[in-house]
Amino acid sequence: MKNIESEILRNNLNYTLFEWRKQSGYKPLNIDKGEGVYLIDHQKNKILDFSSGLINVNIGHGDQRVTDAVVKQMQKVSYVNPSTITKVRGELGKKLSEICPGNLNKSFFTICGATGIENAIKLARLYTGRHKILTRYRSYHGSTMGAMSAGGDPRKLKVDSQMGTNFIHLEIPYKYRSSGHHWEQNCFDHLDRILSYEGPENFAAIIMEGESGSSGCLKLPDGYFKKLRKVCDKYGILLIVDEVMSGFGRTGQWFGINNYDVIPDIMVMAKGITSGYIPFGAVQVNDAIANYFNEEELMIGLTYSAHPVACATALRVIDIYEEDNLINNAKEMGKYVDKQVQIMKTKHPSIGDFRNTGLLGCIELVKNKNTKEPFVNFNAKPDEMNVINKMRSKISKLGMSIFIRGNYIFIAPPLCIDKNQIDEGLGIISEALKIADNHC
Ligand SMILES: Cc1ncc(COP(=O)(O)O)c(C=O)c1O
Repeated sequence: MKNIESEILRNNLNYTLFEWRKQSGYKPLNIDKGEGVYLIDHQKNKILDFSSGLINVNIGHGDQRVTDAVVKQMQKVSYVNPSTITKVRGELGKKLSEICPGNLNKSFFTICGATGIENAIKLARLYTGRHKILTRYRSYHGSTMGAMSAGGDPRKLKVDSQMGTNFIHLEIPYKYRSSGHHWEQNCFDHLDRILSYEGPENFAAIIMEGESGSSGCLKLPDGYFKKLRKVCDKYGILLIVDEVMSGFGRTGQWFGINNYDVIPDIMVMAKGITSGYIPFGAVQVNDAIANYFNEEELMIGLTYSAHPVACATALRVIDIYEEDNLINNAKEMGKYVDKQVQIMKTKHPSIGDFRNTGLLGCIELVKNKNTKEPFVNFNAKPDEMNVINKMRSKISKLGMSIFIRGNYIFIAPPLCIDKNQIDEGLGIISEALKIADNHC
């Protein structure tokens, strides 16, 4: 390791904290730059980024067109008070109203996904005058207190075992681990039961991911979203769809919800909106909600709302999805991934299930295909992750960066990926799976 590299490592480890882990013993990637689907370290090694950063760098790394847009905006003005208007803010609002489904025509701009979820919850409570929020166990909606309370990811329990009040959680549909022929009906019955126990008239909103991501890419029973829409309409509950991970082409459509032909009342976006080039997010609301605040005060705000540089970035990134036909590529490459993983499944006893839509997919590892015994449970403790950690190291040694959560290996590369690069990534996963296969 050269001097400069070790100094970078020392500065990072000695003076910064890393998320979601114990700090000692951490061996992070030391990245110098990014190009397309690759990250490049200081020794010019290319690392295939099979998780698009944190499933956000949808257009790929190092796109000069985005740099140019950022520089151009900074040369004009980098920051204005959010009550001020700019060309890029208005143009981005207009563009989002064009690509969002139905009459979701107005945006409130945020800093990230979590601040989007927080503000979507506040908007729903202000609009309905109700306070309960229905969400799902296992779902992840961000790590600020409200978003964490809304989420059903058990990592939150260490921070506050009780969390915010008025968040009610539903069981998440999980076909692979459901027994019996009636799993679909059971999901619907469960929803009806929880609503009736809690009183449907008390709910401000139901929050659902547009497509499940870190919860395990779990697929809904047919008609589930339509049923939710009906329930919401019947009881005056708002349907909030979290498109933070599933938005901006990830599932082969602009938004995950487009796959279900349902129009939400509020949509939350982040990640792919700027492809991670600048932190940013948006809460998109329908006309009824927007119009309500014509006469009522909108009691939400953020210093960095509608940040001009972030708006300029989002505008350029959205153009790139269209210019480079990336959403269609995600759909086509997704079909290729599906085909290849089916072949891998026949060779690797450790692949229990594969669930994918577009380029948002995950392999579920099992010790035994018949019993479906998982390698680790969803809420696995670090000392239960030995085999998975060995696989992680192997993948890293073979030159790939990947997102692994518990028992799930995610396949979510940038949308500009081609078949050869998919083969390269799946080949590396296959090598690592041999470690798990030896424990089957
Ligand atoms: C579905 C979903 N919602 C919200 C968030 C939170 O976004 P952020 O980390 O930008 O706050 C995430 C982050 O992974 C996410 O996947």
